[in-house]
Amino acid sequence: MSNNRGLVTEKAMVVSAREEASKIGTQILELGGNAFDAMMATEMALAVSYPYAGNLGGGGFLIYRLADGEIGALDYREKAPLAATKDMYLDKDGNVIKGKSTVGTLAIGVPGTIAGIFKAQERFGKLDVKTILQPVINLANNGFYVTKQQEERFASYDSIFKAVNGQKLLYNNNLKEGDKVFNFSLANTLERIANNGRDEFYKGETAKALVDFLQDKGSIITLEDLAKYEAKWRKPIQFMYDDLTITSMSPPSSGGICLNQIMTMIESFDLSSYGHNSLKTIQVLVEAEKRAYADRSYYLGDPDFVDIPIETLTSSVYLDERMNNFSFEIATAVDSISHGKIIDYESEETTHYSIVDQFGNAIAVTTTLNGGYGSKVYSGDLGFFLNNEMDDFSSKPGEPNYYGLIGAEANSIAPEKRMLSSMTPTIVEKDGELFMTLGTPGGSTIITSVLQTVLNVHEFNMTMQEAVNAPRFHNQWLPDEIRMEPNSFSPNLKNQLEAKGYIINEKRTPVIGKVDGILILENGKLEGGADKRGDDTAVGF
Ligand code: DON
Repeated sequence: MSNNRGLVTEKAMVVSAREEASKIGTQILELGGNAFDAMMATEMALAVSYPYAGNLGGGGFLIYRLADGEIGALDYREKAPLAATKDMYLDKDGNVIKGKSTVGTLAIGVPGTIAGIFKAQERFGKLDVKTILQPVINLANNGFYVTKQQEERFASYDSIFKAVNGQKLLYNNNLKEGDKVFNFSLANTLERIANNGRDEFYKGETAKALVDFLQDKGSIITLEDLAKYEAKWRKPIQFMYDDLTITSMSPPSSGGICLNQIMTMIESFDLSSYGHNSLKTIQVLVEAEKRAYADRSYYLGDPDFVDIPIETLTSSVYLDERMNNFSFEIATAVDSISHGKIIDYESEETTHYSIVDQFGNAIAVTTTLNGGYGSKVYSGDLGFFLNNEMDDFSSKPGEPNYYGLIGAEANSIAPEKRMLSSMTPTIVEKDGELFMTLGTPGGSTIITSVLQTVLNVHEFNMTMQEAVNAPRFHNQWLPDEIRMEPNSFSPNLKNQLEAKGYIINEKRTPVIGKVDGILILENGKLEGGADKRGDDTAVGF
């Protein structure tokens, strides 16, 4: 492999979807803050400069590894409001009402982001919140620049913003690349949060303003919902792959369990001798992915509401058995595999950032509004969008949701339950030392994008930047197809796969994932991998 490295720094780095956010995170580290201080700053800077997915009105997951090797996970996923019911998106005949769980106020789950960044910072951070949030408040007041990709997105969402909100938003202003956007409302909201702390959002003036705004628009979210919200420490999923120890998100995300299942199923195959994106490598990965995703929709949901047989699902005995009908000769028929049905649609509307600080702490954080700009419901007074995460629940067992995802009882709606996620913030250790921190947006393709990036470094000797840039493919059992990024795989390879019974779809996903990660090099320096598919940028020192 060539030596096409991303940014290399000595001590510390932030890689995120926006240069402004990576810079502000780094600035906090330079002030003596650690990864958890930088998390708060980066997450809020994304909320200002990347409203597509950065948020106060959404939720996310954090995986951390402290300098002393302690690992952990924080769940700040949204939850269903107290007044939510199992069939809230069904009509009187029991059919799913299109759009009800994706657009408008009924799609909104109780937001977790502010609770999450405060819980992490309070426990591990070093700086005071005002110091951390000041550069973000300045960014909102002084404006951020619109990128080319943003210009295109604002244009394509222009009409739905107006339709859902009944009026023009900050982002309905024919914004062009290079224009500056000032979000004074969000600056004020952040200022109140900086002064009054976490409870400002959940119990204070901001909570009241948010609930008044939402209820006025027909929301079922109450002050009690906000007051009762809590981010939760979780035990992460941890497993070995060769000499790597992989730590990733546990339920209510499916990410860690699926990654564990896939990597255990492929471990005995000699991928490095097959070669990167070779016929045999693709076959092994696709078949393992198929089997893991077949389990996903049936078994997984909020662990506080359903019993998940994690030990069995991730045991090598079970997984060996799952792979024993695998053959290099022919694709395994999807209907011979298992449970449930899952037809998931990808998109890039979530966001991930990775941070390593100068003290040796590492974090991986994936955060989301679910769809692009979430429910599209925007509070002009508060300056942020609200999520449409309720659509990650299964509205009706066996019935596809907006993304085509079919779930089961385990992921049905109940008051205060968290909806199943695919987000996979992941930290990799090698020989007991920090090796990599990474993650990505991409809906169901999140898990397979993280998988391929780890394998690209470990099996195929790529640099972090090469590993992130390399073309990706994806299989999720159903629909019965291998999705491939277009213009990235040779006609000959595709013909060979088709001859074995695989269906190839290069149209569905022009882009699979936007991975941001950091690799620790042998000399101890840090290499950033900022995905070329977006405006993603690494900054550090
Ligand atoms: O939690 C999940 O799995 C989804 N809400 C993530 C959505 C997503 O990644 C959309 N954009 N990439």
